[in-house]
Amino acid sequence: MQRIAMLGSGFIGRFYADSIQGYRNKDKIVSIYSRREESVKKFAEDYKVGHATTNMEEAIAHPDVDIVCISLPNNLHEEAVMLCCKHKKAVMTTKPLGRNAAEAKRMVEAVEKAGIFNGYLEDLVYTPKFLKAYESVKNGALGRILWAKSRETHPGPHSDWFWDIEQAGGGCILDLGCHCVEITRTYIGKDIRPVEVMCWADTQVKPIDAEDHSIALIKYENGAIAQFEVSWTFRGGLDLRDEVMGTEGTIWSNNFLRTGLEMFTTGKGADYVSEKAESNTGWLFPVGDELNELGYNHMFMDMFNALEQGQQPKESFYDGYVVNAILDACYKSAKSKLWEPVQLDIWRGQEGVSKDSHLVEYDADHYLVKEEMTHYGLKKLILKNKQTGKIFEKEEK
Ligand SMILES: NC(=O)c1ccc[n+]([C@@H]2O[C@H](COP(=O)([O-])OP(=O)(O)OC[C@H]3O[C@@H](n4cnc5c(N)ncnc54)[C@H](O)[C@@H]3O)[C@@H](O)[C@H]2O)c1
Repeated sequence: MQRIAMLGSGFIGRFYADSIQGYRNKDKIVSIYSRREESVKKFAEDYKVGHATTNMEEAIAHPDVDIVCISLPNNLHEEAVMLCCKHKKAVMTTKPLGRNAAEAKRMVEAVEKAGIFNGYLEDLVYTPKFLKAYESVKNGALGRILWAKSRETHPGPHSDWFWDIEQAGGGCILDLGCHCVEITRTYIGKDIRPVEVMCWADTQVKPIDAEDHSIALIKYENGAIAQFEVSWTFRGGLDLRDEVMGTEGTIWSNNFLRTGLEMFTTGKGADYVSEKAESNTGWLFPVGDELNELGYNHMFMDMFNALEQGQQPKESFYDGYVVNAILDACYKSAKSKLWEPVQLDIWRGQEGVSKDSHLVEYDADHYLVKEEMTHYGLKKLILKNKQTGKIFEKEEK
C-alpha cells in the first residue's frame, strides 16, 4: 500500500486521484495541498483525505506520506521537487518535468543526490493501445523503426496559468509536444540519441505570447525520424493519434476521438462526454473508461510496483529531462528556422550508433530492391547488380 500526498486539486490532480483510489485500489491519498482553502476542503471531502492544507511543505513532510504526487502548474514543479528532496520523500511529477531542460536537469540531479524514488507521469506511454503496440514493436513485428509520428491537438487548456508563458514555460509545444516526444522516442528506442530538430511554430489564433500550433521533426542517431503535430487551436475535441512505421510493418492508433464507441443524441439529458469534447449533442464519440484509455491506471501500477520493489519505474525524471531537452531545441529551431542540435548534458543511452545497412541479398551478384505479385499472375522482382549498380526487373512465374 502506498500513502500519497497529492499536490494540486485541479484537473489532473482529480484524474490521478480517481485512478489511484478507484477500482477498490489499496493505495490512498492521505494528504492534499492546494492553493485555496475551499478547493482543498472539497478535494479532501470528495476523496476522504485526512490531512488537508494550503501549505505545500506541510503536505510533503506529513509523517504518513510515502510518496508525493505533483499535479501543480509547471512553474511550481521544481519548488515541490526540492521540498521532496529536503524531506527525503519519493516523488512523481506530472508532465512536463520542467519548463525547460535547465530546470529539469536541476530536478534530476537533486533527486539522484537525495537518493529518492522519482517517477515521470507520462501517461500516454501507458495506454492500453500503446502498451500493445509497443510490445509488437519490441518483438520486431515492424522490423527496424524508421518513422514515428504523434499528434495531440485540442481547443486549448482549461486554466489561466497555461496561457501565461511565464508560468507555463511555453505553449502547445511544451504542453502537448512533451507527450508526443516521449511516445515517438519510446517507439524509436529510448537508448537512441536524439540528434537534431526542425520545428515550425506560430500563434495562429489565440491572443497569447506562446505558440498555439506547431509541427516538428526530430532526427535520431540511428537514422530514424520522429514527427509531432500539436495544437491548441484544433476544433472537435481531443485528437490523440500515433503512427509508427518500420521495415516490416506499420501501426496506427487512435487513442481518443475514435475508440469504437459512437452515439447520437438530440441533447436531452446530455452530460459530460469525454475530456475536451466540444459538444454534447449530435454524433458523439465518448471514451469508455478515460482513466484506463489515457493510461493512468497502468502508469500508477508501474510507479507503485517499482517503488515497492526498489526499482526504477519505466518513466523517470531522466526521461522527463530528455523530453525537455528535445523541446528546448524545438523552440530554438522555430526561431532560427534551422535544424538545431539537441543539447543533452546528461546522456545515458548508446553512443555513436550508425545508420543500419539493410541490404537484402537476392544472389551472389544482386541485391533485391523489391518483389511484388502482379494482378496478371507474374511475380516481379526489381534487382540491383552489385558490381555495376544497374537496376533492372525480372519476372518469375
Ligand atoms: N495528461 C496529463 O498528463 C496532464 C493533463 C493535464 C495537466 N497536466 C499537468 O498537470 C499540472 C497541473 O495542471 P492542471 O490541468 O491540473 O491545472 P489546474 O489549474 O486544473 O490545477 C492546478 C492546481 O494547482 C494548484 N495551485 C497551487 N498553487 C498555484 C498557483 N500559484 N497557481 C495556480 N494553481 C496553483 C491549484 O489550486 C490547482 O489545484 C501541469 O503541470 C500540467 O501540465 C498533465
